Amino acid sequence: MNVKGILLAGGHGTRLWPMTKLVSKQMLNIYDKPMIYYPLSSLILAGIRDICIVSQNENIQIYKNFFGDGNQLGLNISYQAQNDPKGIPDAININKNFIGKSSVVLALGDNIFYGRDFEEQLKDGIKSLNEKIASVLIHKVSNPSDFGVAKISDNKIVELIEKPKKFVSNHAVTGLYFLPNDCINFTIDLKPSDRGELEITDLLNFYLKESRLRHIFTGRGTFWTDSGSVGSLNDASNFVRAIQNSQGLVICAPEEIALYKNFISKGQFKKLIENYSSEYAEKLKNTIDYNES
Ligand code: DAU
Repeated sequence: MNVKGILLAGGHGTRLWPMTKLVSKQMLNIYDKPMIYYPLSSLILAGIRDICIVSQNENIQIYKNFFGDGNQLGLNISYQAQNDPKGIPDAININKNFIGKSSVVLALGDNIFYGRDFEEQLKDGIKSLNEKIASVLIHKVSNPSDFGVAKISDNKIVELIEKPKKFVSNHAVTGLYFLPNDCINFTIDLKPSDRGELEITDLLNFYLKESRLRHIFTGRGTFWTDSGSVGSLNDASNFVRAIQNSQGLVICAPEEIALYKNFISKGQFKKLIENYSSEYAEKLKNTIDYNES
């Protein structure tokens, strides 16, 4: 089964103004690398090679200059402009040709995942797509009103609510969605919410109604954050710094994960970093036996 990735790197980024006045939010740094590296790493770890990056027209050229066609990472990266951020499911509407007959993993450009079980969780989500089941990753949070949340009863999702004002559940629906091909059809029928956007929660509700929505708990050993606010951006940087410094390694590096997934060879990996002496490049060199061929 073919699965394609859509990476959302658009939106207004208003919560991070003035940092986002001239810079695409997903190009801001989370410690030692651009924010977009983190969701890109998630897609690569899921085994996805065909990836479309969605952003405003003025930012598309920046992403193109940065990633090109993705061949250096063993990927096939394409780009789609979304000038009006009409909501997360709009990325499906504007990508129908890219999606074709494939299933989709939709990754929000500000979501960071890290944990020992994360790869297994990705495999679970991809596997369910074979049975035309959609999956979401659920993470327990202390601030559920900032997210879409799932009410879970008898180990089944019974309700999904976008940013509930009153407490319903502390199970946040994270920004990595495994969607069967018919998401293309469901998205056509979505209507904008009160805040004027197409909501991912409304799309997931189609699958919930058809008993085709599965939840995968990230568990206590997984770090997850959406880095869309000043505080969470800083928290994410601090987390990455602490874990990287304690291990002397980098986390969520697309180059390393592409090597791990055999998307590129060791020789290609070396070529990507050989001319750089940044902390990032030096730590990446540490992650492999750099001097061995
Ligand atoms: O982070 C998880 C949460 O993400 C979920 O729990 C919510 O259910 C979901 O609605 C979403 O909530 P946010 O309010 O955090 O979404 P935000 O508007 O910040 O958009 C998420 C990312 O998608 C962000 O990197 C910008 C990008 N985006 C957003 C919209 C609305 C686009 O590229 N295009 C868009 O039209």
